[in-house]
Amino acid sequence: MASMPPACSDSDKLIPKRMTRSIRIAPSILAADFARLGDELRAVTEAGADFIHIDVMDGHFVPNITIGPEVVGALREHSALPFDVHLMLSPVDPFIPLFAAAGADIITVHPESGPHLHRSVQLVKSLGKKVGVALNPGTQVEAIDNVLGELDLVLVMSVNPGFGGQSFITSQLDKIRALRTRIDATGRAIDLEVDGGVNFETAAAAIEAGADVLVAGTATFSGGPGAYADNIERLRNGAG
Ligand code: DX5
Ligand code: ZN
Repeated sequence: MASMPPACSDSDKLIPKRMTRSIRIAPSILAADFARLGDELRAVTEAGADFIHIDVMDGHFVPNITIGPEVVGALREHSALPFDVHLMLSPVDPFIPLFAAAGADIITVHPESGPHLHRSVQLVKSLGKKVGVALNPGTQVEAIDNVLGELDLVLVMSVNPGFGGQSFITSQLDKIRALRTRIDATGRAIDLEVDGGVNFETAAAAIEAGADVLVAGTATFSGGPGAYADNIERLRNGAG
């Protein structure tokens, strides 16, 4: 006798939703070998990355200094993947055109990095680039309410910005859930990216909460180029 199909539980109902959302991996080159950045970009591109996440820090908005538009421009020829440029600098508006010209495809700004968030968003769009807004761990979800309809991406910081290799702040999972609800309500294709401390232990929780783009620096670049493909695949699958 054929057995009855199992009853559908609440968690079963969630599975199709999760499976239809494709998870993309954005290696943060902050964890790459800075002396071999071109090689590192080619390696993660061949290893199956979806975006190249570039963390730009000014030593003022965040307590660290990284790279400027000239380096972004020099890296452009080393990967055809979208450059996902995360600007952690203030004031941000004067630098947006420079990163756009250098080859950024997505430009993400923080609400605190300029006096007029809506103006910054419009500036990115006027340059023909996709635009994101990043929320620090202490920044309320409501900070994006009046610009959400303009955005291509929302980035949830799961560490305080400034450094790679920090621990995932689990209180940000509620923020990811709240944003998933808001984004779904718009009916628009807005990426929900999580950035900071994403590794083989934390990726699953971020995906379950509703993230669909995982930034991963330390976890992607651990083990050297031979490990990148496996690292990316494990992150994409939320492997524990
Ligand atoms: C932090 C940066 C992150 C960071 C992620 O300010 O925005 O992109 O590099 O690094 P991991 O994955 O090592 O936490
Ligand atoms: Zn980042």
